Amino acid sequence: MARFWVCVAGAGFLIACVILHGRLCGSGVLRNFVFQVSWRTEKLLYRLDLDWPNYPEYFTGTTFCVAVDSLSGLVYVAQRGDSIPKVLVFTEDGYFLRAWNYTVDTPHGMFAASTPYEQSVWITDVGSGSYGHTVKKYNSFGDLVQVLGTAGKKGTGLNPLQFDNPAELYVEDTGDIYIVDGDGGLNNRLIKLSQDFMILWLHGENGTGPGKFNIPHSVTLDSAGRVWVADRGNKRIQVFNKDTGEWLGAWSDCFTDEGPSSVRFTPDGKHLIVAQLGLSRLLVLAAPPVGSIGTCSVVSTIQLPDQTLPHLLEIDHMTGAIYVAEIGAKQVQRYVPLSTYVPAFST
Ligand SMILES: *[C@@H]1O[C@H](CO)[C@@H](O)[C@H](O)[C@H]1NC(C)=O
Ligand SMILES: *[C@@H]1O[C@H](CO)[C@@H](O)[C@H](O)[C@H]1NC(C)=O
Repeated sequence: MARFWVCVAGAGFLIACVILHGRLCGSGVLRNFVFQVSWRTEKLLYRLDLDWPNYPEYFTGTTFCVAVDSLSGLVYVAQRGDSIPKVLVFTEDGYFLRAWNYTVDTPHGMFAASTPYEQSVWITDVGSGSYGHTVKKYNSFGDLVQVLGTAGKKGTGLNPLQFDNPAELYVEDTGDIYIVDGDGGLNNRLIKLSQDFMILWLHGENGTGPGKFNIPHSVTLDSAGRVWVADRGNKRIQVFNKDTGEWLGAWSDCFTDEGPSSVRFTPDGKHLIVAQLGLSRLLVLAAPPVGSIGTCSVVSTIQLPDQTLPHLLEIDHMTGAIYVAEIGAKQVQRYVPLSTYVPAFST
């Protein structure tokens, strides 16, 4: 008996399939068939929020990074270009609040680190001007609060600390800072600093072996005390113990096509969202439980239009929304978790 699947995509993420059981007669006419309907859910976990932000016209440059302060409901976007505001501040609802460009040269990565008493955003600056080669902390209004590195001077030094193309950072609630340096400059390092900016440990070598890097581009932590680094040029993610810096393992199976450019965990800790810049794709990976990191496994993918070029992303820890800074499309887009899942059934 021949089986024919007739599938109709509906509602964006559901695929209705009708199985026609029947016999094709000589005349090509279907006879004797029974209908079976089965609903199959694609593992689509997010939908694009076309209403964020309210006025995309504020994106006047190339949007390299985004940070979310979920405590205060603020979204920071940094963009590059001439004679434009470099940092834009939006509400999570998509309303534009303010912008600044003083003391920002060429932003690359950012991280919002807020407490109930202080709102702040950190920016890595890869510029070669007088504000470049630094990692800087601002308050929410753009006042410069702290500069790490030697402004205007790239280098490999540790005392005083120097950067070259610092790519991104992650700041813990304790104030401890993890910096990946960098984006194709002199250094290929992962540095952990204490809250008073002393080096606690570092991995500082260029190469392909364990704990060595080729363009460490993004860094994040999980709730099990592990540091996850997108080692883009080596097409892998490397994982370290956050207290000792000990190397715990690497994932490369998921990145044979292209290395990861951004790494962030979902608030429930179940998934690691990874951007693949050149493929214009986001991967939803299964986060491993405490202990061995095992091998990587893709739960779902979000394919963006060609040439969107997702560079760095951030996840709102209250709502789970993913904000993606797209250097090709020159915008930041928001993907929100689908609140309702339709259970799969088949006959
Ligand atoms: C800073 O932004 C303003 C607009 O907000 C723009 O007129 C000015 O040229 C910018 N300055 C630089 C140095 O980019
Ligand atoms: C690091 O090593 C790679 C090849 O192993 C090389 O292409 C790159 O130029 C090196 N980078 C630095 C900063 O030495």
